[in-house]
Amino acid sequence: MKVRNQLEMHSELIGQIEASGETELLGKAKAIEKNRQDTKIASILEYIPAIFDDSKEGLEKISKIVKNLREFSRIDELATLDKYNINDGIETALVVVRNQIQSDADIRKELSEVPLIICNPGKINQVLLNILVNAAQAIEAQERDDKGTITIKTYQTDDEVVCEISDDGCGISSETVSKIYEPFFTTKPVGQGTGLGLSVSYDIIVIQHKGKLIVDSTVGKGTKFTIKLPINNQEMKKMKKTTVLFVDDEEKILNSLKMGLMDQPYRKFFAKSGKEALEILKREEVQVIVTDMRMPEMSGLELLRTVKEEYPNIIRMVLSAYTQVTTLLTAINQGEIYKYITKPWKLEEEFKPAIRQAIDYYNIQSERDSLVAESEQLKK
Ligand SMILES: Nc1ncnc2c1ncn2[C@@H]1O[C@H](COP(=O)(O)OP(=O)(O)O)[C@@H](O)[C@H]1O
Ligand SMILES: [Mg+2]
Repeated sequence: MKVRNQLEMHSELIGQIEASGETELLGKAKAIEKNRQDTKIASILEYIPAIFDDSKEGLEKISKIVKNLREFSRIDELATLDKYNINDGIETALVVVRNQIQSDADIRKELSEVPLIICNPGKINQVLLNILVNAAQAIEAQERDDKGTITIKTYQTDDEVVCEISDDGCGISSETVSKIYEPFFTTKPVGQGTGLGLSVSYDIIVIQHKGKLIVDSTVGKGTKFTIKLPINNQEMKKMKKTTVLFVDDEEKILNSLKMGLMDQPYRKFFAKSGKEALEILKREEVQVIVTDMRMPEMSGLELLRTVKEEYPNIIRMVLSAYTQVTTLLTAINQGEIYKYITKPWKLEEEFKPAIRQAIDYYNIQSERDSLVAESEQLKK
């Protein structure tokens, strides 16, 4: 702004000199004016806001990329296992590589809903990144006029989450294909290839995650890499076989549980009263019961007593407000319940883990029981 003011004052001064008719001064003023035009100050000033806008946008992009890279390396360091949705992983990887890919290829996504898997998210993201970059480089290598296409597809089978990444790039010859998983094998010029991407990816998918990494390629047509990751395993299968019964007289609470627990793998039943709960127990095999305390007719405590007598193996839990602490204590002291959840609860941090723990506890109990039964059998 200050520079602009100065320019205006300068123009004004020249105007005044011209008006005064002082020829010597006018010559000097003209020289300054010419110098000013040569340096293009005025037009530079005009561009400045746009330049700043561009840099701001660029900086935002960079910070997004850095954030994503951080995420990769951080999880790498911790080597933690976590629940992971491969569709989210694909989005994360695309944020990182989109700039690199965009000029060579269009990205087509055919993502279907897939179950969460337990894995090391950072490592799987790293694999997606490697394969996506290879696909883009395979298209770039063709030096063609049109853009290529990279197709990312996800789906699930009975026991695996599958991700296919296909490109219509240069393809891999049959002599080369046997070497692509070797460390340091590369067909790319120095600076573009390290030959490590696929060997690292193979290690992550096949060795670390007990999955599969399959390549399918035709020279001149393109390449498809298929990643198959096992859907977890024993725990998940046990969860799926488990049934949890929720009892609360408040319709609102039952409905919010119905919605909130939709992503949980176990079977769910919902009852509006103790009476209804007992009816469900008669016809369904239930492993965990979660009941409200204060209900008309049959209270939660009464319900749990009956359950304890008639179905001693069912894990009993209560939902309770802090204000009902006396009844709660009675229940705990009489050994009626395994655990209580206080109202209001945090669904993700408290409620869901508590139910899963109860299911684990049930499974441990029943394993122990069957071991005991087996050893009894052996004694005979
Ligand atoms: N999508 C693909 N299309 C064609 N060739 C590929 C593709 N992906 C991998 N390759 C081949 O496999 C080699 C090894 O890949 P990689 O381990 O990622 O190392 P780099 O990319 O550094 O060369 C590549 O050099 C290339 O010859
Ligand atoms: Mg590579």
